[in-house]
Amino acid sequence: MKKIIIAIDGYSSCGKSTMAKDLAKEIGYIYIDSGAMYRAVTFYCLEHGLFDGNEVNEVELAKAMPDIRIEFRLNAETKRPETYLDGRCVEKEIRTLAVSQKVSFIAALGFVREALVRLQQEMGKEKGIVMDGRDIGTTVFPDAELKVFVTASAAIRAKRRYDELQAKGEKGSYEEILANVEERDRIDMNRAVSPLRQAEDAVVLDNSEMTVDEQKTWLLAQYGRVVGRGE
Ligand code: DC
Repeated sequence: MKKIIIAIDGYSSCGKSTMAKDLAKEIGYIYIDSGAMYRAVTFYCLEHGLFDGNEVNEVELAKAMPDIRIEFRLNAETKRPETYLDGRCVEKEIRTLAVSQKVSFIAALGFVREALVRLQQEMGKEKGIVMDGRDIGTTVFPDAELKVFVTASAAIRAKRRYDELQAKGEKGSYEEILANVEERDRIDMNRAVSPLRQAEDAVVLDNSEMTVDEQKTWLLAQYGRVVGRGE
C-alpha cells in the first residue's frame, strides 16, 4: 500500500503523542515526536547554563546549534522510540516540568525552528511517518496526505499531564501545571515564527470527552479514509 505522511498538530498535553504512537504501531509507520526535539534543545540549554531566567543566550545557542545531534532510537525492550541528545538518551530528562517551563522560549527562536524543521523533513523523506507537533501540517509537511488538529479544554489537558507526572513520581501541583499549559498555549499561538494554528485542510478532533481507545478508532478510520480513496 502506498505510504503517506500523517501530521498531527494541536495544543500541548492533549494526547497527540499517545494517538500518534498507537496509530504508527498499528499501521507499521515510524513515529516522530517533534516536541521532543524542541525539548532536547531546551535541555541542552539548561545543562549548558544558557538560560538567564527565561532569557536564552541566543548567540551561544546559535553557535552550538549546528553541532547539537538529536535522533530517535528504538528501545529494544519497550519497542518505543527514545530521544537521544549527542548520543545520550534524554527521554526522561526532557519530560520534566523544568524543561516544560522553558521549552516555549526555545520553540519561538527562528534559527532553532529552521534547523529542526529541516531535520524533520529529512526524517519524512521516505514517507510512512506519523509526526506530531504544532506546525507539522502547516510548515513541516504542508502536503501531508492526512492532517489532524487535536484540541481539548485546558483543564482536562492539565489534569492529564498532572496524572502523568504523578504516575512517574514527579512533583508539580495541578494549579502549577494548569498555569503552564495555559501559558504555553499563549506563547505557542502568538509567536512570530510558525505559530500554532490549524491547517485549512486538517480534520479537527476535540477529544475532551473521548477515551484513548475511542481516539485510536477515530484516527484509524481517518487513515483508512485517506488511503482507501488512494490519495
Ligand atoms: O508537544 P510538547 O508539549 O512536547 O512540545 C513541547 C514544546 O515545543 C511546546 O511548547 C511547543 C513546542 N513545539 C513546537 O513549537 N513545534 C512543534 N512542532 C512541536 C513542539
